[in-house]
Amino acid sequence: MRKITIIALSLLFATTLFAQKKTKTPLYKDSKQPIEKRVNDLISRMTLEEKVLQLNQLTLGRNDNANNMADPVNDIPAGIGSLIYFSSNPDLRNQVQKKAMEHSRLGIPILFGYDVIHGYRTMYPISLAQACSWNPKLVEEACSVAAQEARMSGVDWTFSPMIDVARDARWGRVSEGYGEDPYTNSVFCVASVKGYQGDDLSNPKKIAACLKHYIGYGASEAGRDYVYTEISRQTLWDTYMPPYQAGVEAGVATLMSSFNDINGTPGTANQYILREILKERWQHDGFVVSDWGAIQQLRSQGVAADKKEAAFKAFTAGVEMDMMNDCYNKHLAELVEEGKVPQALVDDAVKRILRLKFRLGLFETPYTPASTEKERFLLPQSLQIAEQLAEESIVMLKNEGSTLPLTNISKIAVVGPMAKSNWHLLGSWRAQGKSDDAVTLFAGLENEFKNKVQLSYAQGCNFDGEDRSGFESVLTLAKGADAVIVCLGEKAQWSGENASRSTLSLPQIQEDLVAELKKAGKPIILLLSSGRPLELVRLEKQSDAMLQIWQPGIAGGNPIAGILSGRINPSGKLSITFPYSTGQIPIYYNHRQSARPHQGKYQDIPSTPLYEFGHGLSYTTFEYSDITLSADKINRGDKLIAEVTVKNTGDMDGAETVHWFVRDPVSTISRPIKELKFFDKLMIRKGETKVFRFEIDPIRDLGFVDGEGKRFLESGEYWVMVKDKKVSLTIN
Ligand code: BGC
Repeated sequence: MRKITIIALSLLFATTLFAQKKTKTPLYKDSKQPIEKRVNDLISRMTLEEKVLQLNQLTLGRNDNANNMADPVNDIPAGIGSLIYFSSNPDLRNQVQKKAMEHSRLGIPILFGYDVIHGYRTMYPISLAQACSWNPKLVEEACSVAAQEARMSGVDWTFSPMIDVARDARWGRVSEGYGEDPYTNSVFCVASVKGYQGDDLSNPKKIAACLKHYIGYGASEAGRDYVYTEISRQTLWDTYMPPYQAGVEAGVATLMSSFNDINGTPGTANQYILREILKERWQHDGFVVSDWGAIQQLRSQGVAADKKEAAFKAFTAGVEMDMMNDCYNKHLAELVEEGKVPQALVDDAVKRILRLKFRLGLFETPYTPASTEKERFLLPQSLQIAEQLAEESIVMLKNEGSTLPLTNISKIAVVGPMAKSNWHLLGSWRAQGKSDDAVTLFAGLENEFKNKVQLSYAQGCNFDGEDRSGFESVLTLAKGADAVIVCLGEKAQWSGENASRSTLSLPQIQEDLVAELKKAGKPIILLLSSGRPLELVRLEKQSDAMLQIWQPGIAGGNPIAGILSGRINPSGKLSITFPYSTGQIPIYYNHRQSARPHQGKYQDIPSTPLYEFGHGLSYTTFEYSDITLSADKINRGDKLIAEVTVKNTGDMDGAETVHWFVRDPVSTISRPIKELKFFDKLMIRKGETKVFRFEIDPIRDLGFVDGEGKRFLESGEYWVMVKDKKVSLTIN
């Protein structure tokens, strides 16, 4: 009897234990556990097939990217790692997420990504323009709004910022980055990563960021897209790497590998860049996603015979997620089973992806809460940032005889193909942006000059083509006006991905329109909208004033009209050089010294650009003092303060950006003639004086990197420069 009781009790105990074990919440689902423990627990439960699925990204919704056409993906597996989410309605996401949470064996949430580049619904100026504001705080705020709009719409992850230093403006993607300078790209990279991610990715208004395109895509030969790039190790480190290093140090969650072939090894299969530098040296614990179709493209680039070899090369180099290639899902498991890809490498890759999902809080909050578009989009504060950023990114290139602001006039003729377009003001990558949200240039002028000035309008010509039939009527219009505003520029689709141009000139018809209008003898003001610097040498001669308005986003015409009326004092300065002509490309301010600086000039054109990096006029005048230093001889470990005093000597309040450059005149490795190391923008009221201060950390600001990325600082003389002022100092 006793024996039976013992057996019965033991059986009961065992069954209870078993039942408990069965129902016990697995550790990875316990939000109180540290993320690394949860990741390790989850991975220990996964099969190889489940792991491989996590490494793939497919699309969901209507693909709105003309460069990346693909059949809609049906039958999305419940265990998929990530989806590109083309809808702005969280419902679709939630439905698919439900499948992942309830029908995949382990309930791993899907990560939803999207190209939120310069705004989600509230469209901001393109990134190249944003950099002309020299206001990283404002850019951070804009990215923060983009994050809020995107996350509330079902997007967890943006493929932004693009921080490819670009020095050939024929390349259409120059519009997507922050210009030609490594430091500028670094500063705006950090600002946007902070804006998107904040301090806590599980915040329902933040998203994960992605630095792209790692690396050297901006060096595309002759400005053509997707082609070969020749980048020496030295240039790689001193020019292309700094923004990426800054972004990784700022805690960016992910990176996207680049399409371009770098010296014979494409970015998608580049061990040195991806594994040695990013993962081993910089210890990045996030993941790398391939660019769209880039793994299978290793075949076209001539380094892989088939998709299986492409999968092997990309994966072992360090690309963890396959964006629309069909390479990892088809071949990775097989490569592991054949012993070609170590299981440990697969585990490492999956862990990186899971880590982000945990950090985003997706296991706890997989679904996007319902909200109305009104609660998400175009909030007053978001619109205010759009207006402010557009205002600060506009650059006044020319203002002969104080043509601007337009005061004491009663009639303005508004002319040109850009005047009434809202579509082109948004630029490329408009996410969920709608052209109807954008204020046209003409509407902006109407808002500004209502009841004060009579506005008349005629288009005159199209963006391109030969039709000059509208010229006569615009000339009549111009003759009857006190000033002529000519709205010219590039169509939005002339820049962005796969949108290179062979020249930076505007089409002949637009130049001819200005020549025709000139006959009226009235002041000519050009508003130039483009996604790249333009060749303006001929237009410059025909005009009295020129505003580079870029692709300003939805605020569009309002801030521009505010500048024209004098309500706003322009403060933007160029983040990229405007060459004298396309033939000067590549031209950038921080070039190396020539063996014969006084020779080597072009025979047919000047050798200097039309408008330098940093150029930008104001309605007021600023007087700079000499630069003072807290010491002119220091030891390498010491810090140093440089100061310059700027006085607003004009009669309007204005913001001024001071750019601090350094130069090492003699170094073991030849260095650029000027390197931007710091900038600061301050509002200076009329008659007021402000002190601009640059705290110099010699290793960081005067040192340089060698061809392996090792920073060094040599003893000797250095220069610190602001505008035409220069002081020298010695490092012992
Ligand atoms: C572009 C990337 C983009 C990706 C996804 C690619 O063609 O190069 O910048 O993030 O598509 O849309």
